Amino acid sequence: MLSTNKHAGRADAAQPTMIGLLRKDIAQEVKSIVKKTDATSDIRTISGTLKEELIGFQSEPCVVLLQMAATEGDEFDIVEEFLNRNPHLSVIIISDDVPFEQVRRLMRSGALDILPRPLVEEEFLVALEAAFVRVSNAKLSGGAAKTGNVITFMKACGGVGGTTLAIQAAHALAGNARRKKKVCLIDFDLQFGNVSMYLDVADGGELSDLLRQPDEIDATLFNSVVSNHRSGIDIIAAPQTVWSLDSIGAAQAGKIIEVAAQLYDYVIVDLPDYWTDWSKEILENAHAVVMVMQMTVAAVRHARRRLDLLQAEGLGTVPVFVVANRYKKPTVFAAETIKQDEVEKALGHPIDFALASNYKVVNEAQTQGIPIAEAEGGRKFAAELNKVAESISARL
Ligand SMILES: Nc1ncnc2c1ncn2[C@@H]1O[C@H](COP(=O)(O)OP(=O)(O)O)[C@@H](O)[C@H]1O
Ligand SMILES: [Mg+2]
Repeated sequence: MLSTNKHAGRADAAQPTMIGLLRKDIAQEVKSIVKKTDATSDIRTISGTLKEELIGFQSEPCVVLLQMAATEGDEFDIVEEFLNRNPHLSVIIISDDVPFEQVRRLMRSGALDILPRPLVEEEFLVALEAAFVRVSNAKLSGGAAKTGNVITFMKACGGVGGTTLAIQAAHALAGNARRKKKVCLIDFDLQFGNVSMYLDVADGGELSDLLRQPDEIDATLFNSVVSNHRSGIDIIAAPQTVWSLDSIGAAQAGKIIEVAAQLYDYVIVDLPDYWTDWSKEILENAHAVVMVMQMTVAAVRHARRRLDLLQAEGLGTVPVFVVANRYKKPTVFAAETIKQDEVEKALGHPIDFALASNYKVVNEAQTQGIPIAEAEGGRKFAAELNKVAESISARL
């Protein structure tokens, strides 16, 4: 006996638990199966194109049944885009015969299930059951169910490359056309934020837009503020004007991270190099902290102080990865270079990744607002940087 009724019963009257966008040929069949559950459903028969139907589609979290023609390539792209745009919906796709590779892509974009035709009633009911559970969980938690990984970049001190590496990590984790992930980069460096400059974003939304109504930070506001960078990542830039460090409260910082994690697979945070009242709140919600430093006496000393601070603030359980940026291998001719084992001893933490200096490509990428891989001669270096992000994400 399926327990769909229990979940469907929690829905409020105004919002149907399920919306169907179906062609005439199966609408009736679906209706008769859905009737066996207690879901409040709104099953619409579409006569025009699926694109017209999906373009302005807006809804609170609910189950969406979509019929897709497998043979039409552009319907596939439209559905994929719809899934990426609406992570809060629990989407079940019904299609004639979807190639395996397309099934995988739809699942990666967040489709809950893909059902072939002819519909098998038992399978359909099981898929509905899973979708109802997901929607009701999302409603109980007051938002969408997706909870992405939060990776926070901290720097030992200014100028060590924290922002550069945060941006590159965002590019790396967003993947490519075959393996797309939703990534948002949030620049919390209220006074020296460089993300928008390095990515050449002139007039996107900024963190301050999220703070105008501090009690109303939600997915709708977040989506209206975020800018979509042409490289495929989303960005919340730091304010254009200098904001005081206490213009954010800890609760707001926490809420921004929480909402972002509901909308994205990865939330990359660029923290300022000064400690604030809200730094702890962000770090408490992080799945990993990347501590960026360089092999200089001053940077190592600051990195150590920051690692100690994390411990003192009770953040010792968040995994920390130390990155030595612009690393030069010590040679016998450069005896003054500080050695890795000495640094690790001073830090009380291993250096997890060492990255070379490559000013030419980094500078070109930042001047043009492009990913390092696209800068002239930048592919190899980008691959080296990407390994850091991939290896961290594999360990989350
Ligand atoms: N691996 C690297 N090789 C060469 N230049 C780098 C590298 N990482 C960062 N830079 C440069 O160092 C400067 C400071 O980097 P940035 O990311 O803004 O530092 P932070 O955010 O830690 O203050 C920038 O001009 C950037 O282009
Ligand atoms: Mg910076």
